[in-house]
Amino acid sequence: LLHIGLLTSGGDAPGMNAAIRAVTRTAIQAGIRVTGILHGYIGLLEREWQTLDTASVGNIIQRGGTVLKTGRSEAFRTAEGRALAARHCRELGLDALVIIGGDGSLTGAHLLAEEHGIRVIGLPGTIDNDIWGSDDTIGFDTAVNTALEAIDRIRDTADALERLFLVEVMGRTSGFIAVQVALAGGAEEVITAERPFQAQTLIDKLDLARGRGKRSSIVVVAEGPRPGYSYDVAAQLEQAGHAAKVCVLGHIQRGGRPTGHDRVLASMLGEQAVRSLLAGADRVMLGVDQNRVVAIPLQQLACQRKVLDPRYIDMVATLAG
Ligand code: F6P
Repeated sequence: LLHIGLLTSGGDAPGMNAAIRAVTRTAIQAGIRVTGILHGYIGLLEREWQTLDTASVGNIIQRGGTVLKTGRSEAFRTAEGRALAARHCRELGLDALVIIGGDGSLTGAHLLAEEHGIRVIGLPGTIDNDIWGSDDTIGFDTAVNTALEAIDRIRDTADALERLFLVEVMGRTSGFIAVQVALAGGAEEVITAERPFQAQTLIDKLDLARGRGKRSSIVVVAEGPRPGYSYDVAAQLEQAGHAAKVCVLGHIQRGGRPTGHDRVLASMLGEQAVRSLLAGADRVMLGVDQNRVVAIPLQQLACQRKVLDPRYIDMVATLAG
């Protein structure tokens, strides 16, 4: 193993920089050259890359975003696009490609490997924590904590003016961010796509709570069907006499300093990615299973969906009292 390529792809996630640093420094210490590819697969297609050295990944462990930039490439979704990407990998003389990204990015890596024999290894980088086979993903902990900080602030004003708030969090169709934020933020209820939303059930609960004298509540809503979905929920509640304020947290959940947890996770997985390549790994993603680093074949990822344990949804309501 003499030369690896490294890219971040899809939505950025806090901790990606820590992973870039770990991969680069571990590789260089093992005598491996590292080429950083810019803007994810877009850069691989458009020949945007640069050599990374130990110094070029200094002073980034604490920064959100990704110094390699990221992107979502439509062209790479096509067979022709992947053929061009493979040609560029060969032209660069890459022995392997390290991809840090979410589900779609890792599926793309798998196709590149299957169709063109490019050696790939993936790291789970997404705030959504929706990658099968890994308990955790780089960026999830930071996003949860960022959303929590917002919720704690919202609670002050919700309490002062005795209001009902719907706080919408990211996560696409997965409710992992939502349940963690709801549990840790002491929310009264959580709405996620994993359990079909019944307006009447929530209205009954809110009526009961009002009857008990409760004057302010926070309901965490996963963006689920689409960003801004919580406005639909608010409209239904309003008709039943529960006026709600909506706060869509949006992209603030993607930025900011990664937490210590995400920095350590990213460092561990980044270091292990290089060690695994040296040991012969191919077409796997490194993930975490019960605190141990594990290698999951990319083939398995492509056909599995990580499922949210519904007990967490119930726990939110139980603990809300
Ligand atoms: O996958 C990460 C994520 O932040 C999702 O939670 C969200 O739905 C999506 O990306 C937003 O994407 P964009 O930044 O393109 O609006």
